[in-house]
Amino acid sequence: MIDKDEQRAELVLPEKSVSFPITESSVGDQGIDIRRLRSETGLITYDPGLANTAACKSAITFLDGENGVLMHHGYRIEDLAENCVFLEVAVLLITGSLPNREERSQFTRLMNKNSMLHEGMIRFFDNYPERAHPMAILSAMVVSLSAFYPEIIREDNDTPLDETITNLLSKMRTIAAFSYKKSIGEPFVYPSYKLRYVENFLNMMFSSPVANYHIDPVVEAVMNKFLILHADHEQNASTTVVRGVGSSGTNLYASIAAGISSLWGSMHGGANQAVIEMLEDIRVSGKSVKQVVEQAKDKSNPFRLMGFGHRVYKTYDPRARIAKESCRELLKHLGIDNDPLLDVAMELEEAALADDYFKEKSLYPNVDFYTGIAYRAIGIPTNMFTVMFALGRLPGWIAHWLEMRQDTDQRIVRPRQVYIGQKPRAFVPVEERL
Ligand code: CMC
Repeated sequence: MIDKDEQRAELVLPEKSVSFPITESSVGDQGIDIRRLRSETGLITYDPGLANTAACKSAITFLDGENGVLMHHGYRIEDLAENCVFLEVAVLLITGSLPNREERSQFTRLMNKNSMLHEGMIRFFDNYPERAHPMAILSAMVVSLSAFYPEIIREDNDTPLDETITNLLSKMRTIAAFSYKKSIGEPFVYPSYKLRYVENFLNMMFSSPVANYHIDPVVEAVMNKFLILHADHEQNASTTVVRGVGSSGTNLYASIAAGISSLWGSMHGGANQAVIEMLEDIRVSGKSVKQVVEQAKDKSNPFRLMGFGHRVYKTYDPRARIAKESCRELLKHLGIDNDPLLDVAMELEEAALADDYFKEKSLYPNVDFYTGIAYRAIGIPTNMFTVMFALGRLPGWIAHWLEMRQDTDQRIVRPRQVYIGQKPRAFVPVEERL
């Protein structure tokens, strides 16, 4: 029971009633502050997947899953994706404001200054097998940054915050491109001070000593948009991991490396790779979309429609809408009149949205459903898709890590459990064990 006047929630137990304060939000869900629950009642909450639990207060991102609204520091994702470049959104997430011209130039200067990798780190790439998944390389390389560069926010360290942040943002892009070059056995292409953030990435990925790469402004614009779409999504699994790892006092690089590992899973960022593999499988096997939809509904089959469903969105993911439109525009621009995978994807979407199972469970395409088709058209290999997601999500991870560090309510993350194991029993010496 919630007492609206007093802003408290009352918990009525057989032997007593206890009331808890309500933590107010500026918009959206309010929270029942249960910090005194265990000490006052001896009870704890049980919430697998933490689906009903706010582990923090946050001012970075607002998400209304029922109405398909996503905002960063009050700006709608549609406006940011249409009007900004990725680095502006990165600054917005990290500082709370969009940069003015001077701040943008200063940030770009720092990004350029910090774009190269320590030559000692470059040798690490030699030891990965060529078929290594780039997410494995990315996570390992990012944690290695803490061995090469000074940590952020330590009393004995006077490296300014901007330096550490741009060091990570800029170097992770270089690591991502190098991991691709490693996988195809080509020499690394170094970052260039002449190129903007996305141009630099495309150039490091696709130019080579024997082939000049023409950077198509439309491709650059779509990539900027996709990075913005992924830039933050409040308390998703990987961000929760970054906050959790950082809560023990772990440095920024190591916390983000853990976030990268969490993102890799197919229920999270790994879904963009899984979507293309699923669409490819449908195309090659000749299965009908109806068969695939039936398979996804069959509870005895672990298969799920990849790129569909979301913990928070119970309507069309606003990011998916933008990604779908951009994907179509890109294919048109590149003169790809007929992409068989786009056709399969649109047919699948139509079939799923018309199906009662998907309607009842409010399962709609999410951000991962269409992005892969565009990445593929640009020439990015499937196993790099989740790396693209990680590059986009990086400013969000940084922003949450910083917010967590500055929040005096935050404590080391250490949940409770409801124990269901053996009750106390007598120890049996080895010679008496059956
Ligand atoms: N295909 C078929 N059934 C589904 C799907 C799907 N893609 N997603 C959810 N369901 C069903 C699920 O079986 C469950 O049914 P029931 O109530 O009968 O047990 C119901 O819908 C609720 O699903 P849930 O697993 O309890 O929901 P969740 O919030 O725990 O999981 C999710 C969310 C995204 C992990 C899940 O929808 C999923 O596995 N989707 C496919 C993977 C995917 O596209 N992931 C990308 C997410 S968006 C990008 C990101 O943030 O990483």
